[in-house]
Amino acid sequence: VLILNKTAGVFKPSKRKVYEFLRSFNFHPGTPFLHKIVLGIETSCDDTAAAVVDETGNVLGEAIHSQTEVHLKTGGIIPPVAQQLHRENIQRTVQEILSASSISPSDLSAIATTIKPGLALSLGVGLSFSLQLVGQLKKPFIPIHHMEAHALTITLTNKVEFPFFVLLISGGHCLLALVQGVSDFLLLGKSLDIAPGDMLDKVARRLSLIKHPECSIMSGGKAIEHLAKQGNRFHFDTTPPLQCAKNCDFSFTGLQHLLNKIIIQKEKEEGIEQGQILSSAADIAAAVQHITACHIVKRTHRAILFCKQRNLLPQNNTVLVASGGVASNFYIHGALEILTNATQCTLLCPPPRLCTDNGIMIAWNGIERLRAGVGILHDIEDIRYEPKCPLGVDISKEVEEAAIKVPRLKMNL
Ligand code: KG4
Ligand code: ZN
Repeated sequence: VLILNKTAGVFKPSKRKVYEFLRSFNFHPGTPFLHKIVLGIETSCDDTAAAVVDETGNVLGEAIHSQTEVHLKTGGIIPPVAQQLHRENIQRTVQEILSASSISPSDLSAIATTIKPGLALSLGVGLSFSLQLVGQLKKPFIPIHHMEAHALTITLTNKVEFPFFVLLISGGHCLLALVQGVSDFLLLGKSLDIAPGDMLDKVARRLSLIKHPECSIMSGGKAIEHLAKQGNRFHFDTTPPLQCAKNCDFSFTGLQHLLNKIIIQKEKEEGIEQGQILSSAADIAAAVQHITACHIVKRTHRAILFCKQRNLLPQNNTVLVASGGVASNFYIHGALEILTNATQCTLLCPPPRLCTDNGIMIAWNGIERLRAGVGILHDIEDIRYEPKCPLGVDISKEVEEAAIKVPRLKMNL
């Protein structure tokens, strides 16, 4: 205040001097006197990501080093390779964002790092790097659950009140939960086998869509979405998976096998070899996209009805957050919109760059935990990573016991 008054007339220090002085009170240009700034570090799978975020949600610095290109060449993630790449990149990635954010490491309120769930070798790199930094800087450590971070991302971009639903659907994730607080989750359902994006990728690969001139640079799911627009879903009519199970779990392996059979049959009929593009590829894409959408909607519908029945929701305007690569599919998004309209809910999706793995969601989860005062560690002696770790309290059995029949929704898409 003294210096600001002086800038008004008596004495004019340089802008840098003003910022340096104000920063000693945790001030950052463009934002008033902030107290909480968190460095977030993510290495649970194949992205080395980090970000510095303040408590108003300002992203002061962000960097992602993606390993996708390397893993594409080997046809999947080889954990020791991912570990080596994380090791090679983590120091540079964190240093980059600390310099970009123009804060001094001593300005950090805490360091937040994904420690569960994920690939053991990858989690280990992020954790040991973070613990070293925590020791050097003498800052608190906030261990982060990767799925919790995905689920809370929406509170960074939208004003959302607890409780809200979160549906995480991507290549590696498939879960449905009620978020009741920063670290208070009810797990309503999850995939019993693979994630929907994984299934779409496998079907796209079996259809050799990479050789299709319009789809060669698209992910499997995106290629399916693109081709489906030219196809007729009624050419292959099948019922969605788990029709008889009155729970909110998902399953995609059966669908993948069924599509394999259909593709083999069609190859025979069309007299072509595996690796050539079927003339019916667009119809198959339209059918798999439709069945996937119906399956996801039905399980989510049951979750909404169950939570309504148990009075777990606010009187009006419950939010359903859909996140992950598969949620970016317009057809599936449209199907979810039909559901939210029919159940008086609101559908929200974080922006695409925050739907996939990133450091911002980890740092923001750290801010949320700092604000709530939960899970902030000053003693890091016994901290370990956990490759497998469920999210919240699993109530899927209770949901099943309620045996809620879901009314049919007209999917006019
Ligand atoms: O969230 P994400 O980028 O990464 C992780 O899985 O962690 O999701 C990628 C997955 C892939 O399986 C991809 O095929 C699928 O999301 N995907 C889509 C679409 N875009 C990406 N699936 C359906 N429709 C899309 N438009
Ligand atoms: Zn993720």
